[in-house]
Amino acid sequence: MQKTTTSEKVATGAAQSKLILVGEHAVVHGQPAIALPFPLIGAESIVEKSRGQIYLDSSLYSGPMELAPSSLAGIVNTVKHTLKILQIPYRDLLIRIRSSIPPGKGLGSSASVAIAIVKSLFKYKEEQYTKEILLQLANICETYAHGAPSGIDPLTITSDRPIWYQKEKPVDYIDPKGNFHFVIADSGQMADTKTAVDTVKQMLKQAPQKMYKKIERIGDITYQVREALEKSSKQLLGYLLDEAQKELEALGVSDKSLNRLIEIAKSEGALGAKLTGGGNGGCIIALAENEHHSQLLSEKLLQYGAHNVWSYELKG
Ligand code: MEV
Repeated sequence: MQKTTTSEKVATGAAQSKLILVGEHAVVHGQPAIALPFPLIGAESIVEKSRGQIYLDSSLYSGPMELAPSSLAGIVNTVKHTLKILQIPYRDLLIRIRSSIPPGKGLGSSASVAIAIVKSLFKYKEEQYTKEILLQLANICETYAHGAPSGIDPLTITSDRPIWYQKEKPVDYIDPKGNFHFVIADSGQMADTKTAVDTVKQMLKQAPQKMYKKIERIGDITYQVREALEKSSKQLLGYLLDEAQKELEALGVSDKSLNRLIEIAKSEGALGAKLTGGGNGGCIIALAENEHHSQLLSEKLLQYGAHNVWSYELKG
């Protein structure tokens, strides 16, 4: 359905994506995690004045906001809270969402879209936003998407540096030494982070001692990954990514589609590879030897069935 606007006023907001390098899931249970801003893909929100009820226009849904499907409840609630804070009436708005982040792939789509919308609404009202308000409003969306999010996605999306994050502690930033070439590959399977987070919770309930050891081991690996980044140690980083993947598999959040891509990446010489984000579908992250190798890895992964690949250089 095409929506006409009066086009008196237009405001835009944009946000990048994110990658969890190491520490996903363990971060929900108090361990540190390292995440990277991923600017190769992102979301944009364009707000225009229109007439009548608020209208959303996105690839997932186009129509009145009040009738949006439950999968968009997080976005709808972020919009409502933002309008309330800005004292903008709940009407006469068209919100167009354009995103190159595949949704449900562990790349922070929901947080990125939420942040883009909040930015655009603040601009529409000609008010300044702070990082704190962006995080607060994006976390409303994350709570719908994940149930009990650690908060790492919005923090990374609003950062221009790799972050070191541990719940209830101030965010720290990491300065990698040297350049690291990663390949991110999409398995094509939708990742349901909420279910994956619940799976880990169930595992912890069933075998607390055994599973907490795994969570703590991921925490230890994360400390070592920081060192590997700061000492420019690619071989060590690769080894640690493999080690983290073993623990994630044991926590029940990897699946066939991810394991297959990881195997392909490893057999093509990746120094290490693991799932990234919530898992159970979604994407893997693999460490290549160098830029040339990352191109080769990307081609191989596509050839063997990855739905999409991105080569990403983390610059020191
Ligand atoms: C999602 O990107 C990372 C998880 O650890 C969930 C969270 O931290 O909120 C799986």
